[in-house]
Amino acid sequence: MSKKILIAPSILSADFGKLNLDIASVEPYADLIHCDVMDGCFVPNITFGNEVIKDIKCKKPLDVHLMIAEPEKHVEAFAKCNEKVEMISFHLEATKQAELTINRIKAFGLKAGIALKPKTRAEKIFPFLPSIDFVLVMTVEPGFGGQKFMQEMLPKIRAIRQKAPELDIEVDGGINAETAKLAVQAGANILVAGSYIFGAKDREKALASIKQSACISSGKI
Ligand code: DX5
Ligand code: ZN
Repeated sequence: MSKKILIAPSILSADFGKLNLDIASVEPYADLIHCDVMDGCFVPNITFGNEVIKDIKCKKPLDVHLMIAEPEKHVEAFAKCNEKVEMISFHLEATKQAELTINRIKAFGLKAGIALKPKTRAEKIFPFLPSIDFVLVMTVEPGFGGQKFMQEMLPKIRAIRQKAPELDIEVDGGINAETAKLAVQAGANILVAGSYIFGAKDREKALASIKQSACISSGKI
């Protein structure tokens, strides 16, 4: 069966000086707004935290991607900061307490996801499949926007899809109209894209091109 395709622009590539205006420019065509939280510890870059997410104004659900050490300590702050937060993912490599972190996210009525760095094997997620709502497969090393999609992640997406036919599988990193096609063919259904959308002259067109090639690949057009 093919899952609904969702497109999530990543605000990492937006202009933080006019964040709400940039979000407004993509929101009508987006399904989710992806927020990359980086701590300079788990990843070699620092972005923003719950205080910035608090001030985001949008109608679409917020998808919070935590690239921080010991995420279990910060779930509450992110879950409560903005009523549009609907999904929170954290990295399996960033915590010794994955089950606790999942339970904390779910306790706020939110969808819980586990993100995997490129070097983390698909099998590592299998024990958690019954307890999570989605998996986020990183298709670049986490930390920066504008990197090249790693095609070698496609077998990982396929392996997870085979094991979990109903699960939402999100891909993040280097997504454009071409790579979206490959990711969807492999089994992904949530597509995060930062630089391809925010860097485009026509953001609506960039979003539509991802959606169109993703939907064609999933057999929905
Ligand atoms: C990278 C972030 C991504 C990033 C993707 O660590 O998790 O969400 O914004 O950016 P692009 O689409 O430019 O690769
Ligand atoms: Zn992300």
